[in-house]
Amino acid sequence: MELPGAVAVVTGATGGLGQRICRALAVQGAHIAGVYRQSAEAAHALVAEWSALGPHSAAFQADVTDPASVQQMVERVVAGFGRIDILINNAAYNQLVPFRDLDGLTLELWEHIQRINSTAPFLCVKAVAPVMRRQRRGRIVNVTSVAGLAPTGSSIAYAVSKAALTHLTRCLAVALGPEIAVNAVAPGLLRGTKMTARLSPTQVERGLMQSALQKYVDLDDVADQVVTFCRSDSTTGQVLVIDSGRVYH
Ligand SMILES: NC(=O)c1ccc[n+]([C@@H]2O[C@H](COP(=O)([O-])OP(=O)(O)OC[C@H]3O[C@@H](n4cnc5c(N)ncnc54)[C@H](OP(=O)(O)O)[C@@H]3O)[C@@H](O)[C@H]2O)c1
Repeated sequence: MELPGAVAVVTGATGGLGQRICRALAVQGAHIAGVYRQSAEAAHALVAEWSALGPHSAAFQADVTDPASVQQMVERVVAGFGRIDILINNAAYNQLVPFRDLDGLTLELWEHIQRINSTAPFLCVKAVAPVMRRQRRGRIVNVTSVAGLAPTGSSIAYAVSKAALTHLTRCLAVALGPEIAVNAVAPGLLRGTKMTARLSPTQVERGLMQSALQKYVDLDDVADQVVTFCRSDSTTGQVLVIDSGRVYH
C-alpha cells in the first residue's frame, strides 16, 4: 500500500512506542489520527511535531475499552480525514505481579488487563473494518509482545492477553482478507516507556542479560517494522519478534 496520503489511526499515540510509530508513519507521508486517553497535553504537542513533517495530524481522545467511545472516535476520524487506511493497536497496560503470586493477581486486575490488551484491539477492529471494507483496502498492525509467545513478562495476565492478541491477529487475517491485511509485531524489552518503568529492576536486568544482543529493543526498529507491514501487499497473519534475540518464534 502506498503510504503518502494514507490515514493512520494509532492507539496509545502518546506512549513510548506509540509516538515513534506515529512519527515513522508521518515521515512516510501518512496522516496521523493519534488516539490518547488521558495525556491530552502530550498528545497535542506531539500532533504539532508530526504535522510539521508534512502530512496532517490530529489527536483524538478515546477509551479503547469502551465500545461507544471507540465508535465515536472512528466516526470523528472519518469526519475529519474522510477515510481510514491503517489501524495500529498499540495501547496497552501492565502491572508487575510475579508469576508465582497467584493471590496477587486478582480477578479485577486480570479482567482489566485482558480488556485493554486483547478486547480493546478487537473493539477497534470491529469499528474500523466496515470503513476499510468500503474503501476495499486496509492495514492493521497489532502490537503484541514476546510475552504472548513464551511464559514471561510482567504478569500471567499480561502474557495471556498478548497470546490472545497474537492469535487474534491470525484469525482476523482470515476474517478480513482480501481487502485488509492484519499483522503483528512482538517486541521484547523497550527502553524508557511507562510500561518498562513498571517492571522490577531484576526483571529488566535478567531480560537484558538473557538476550543474545544483550540490549533493549530499539523503539525505532519496531516502528520501522510497523511501517513495513503497512506497506506490504502480500503479508498477512504474521507475528514478527523484535527482542534482541531471546524468544525464537
Ligand atoms: N515496554 C515494553 O518493554 C514492551 C515490551 C513488549 C511489548 N510492549 C507493547 O508495546 C506497546 C506500547 O508499549 P509502551 O511501553 O510504549 O506503553 P506506554 O508508554 O505505557 O503507553 C501506553 C499507552 O496506552 C494508552 N492507553 C492505556 N490505556 C488506554 C485506554 N483504556 N484507552 C486509550 N489509550 C490507553 C496510554 O494513553 P494515555 O497516556 O493517554 O492514558 C499510553 O499512551 C504495548 O502494546 C505494549 O504491550 C511493550
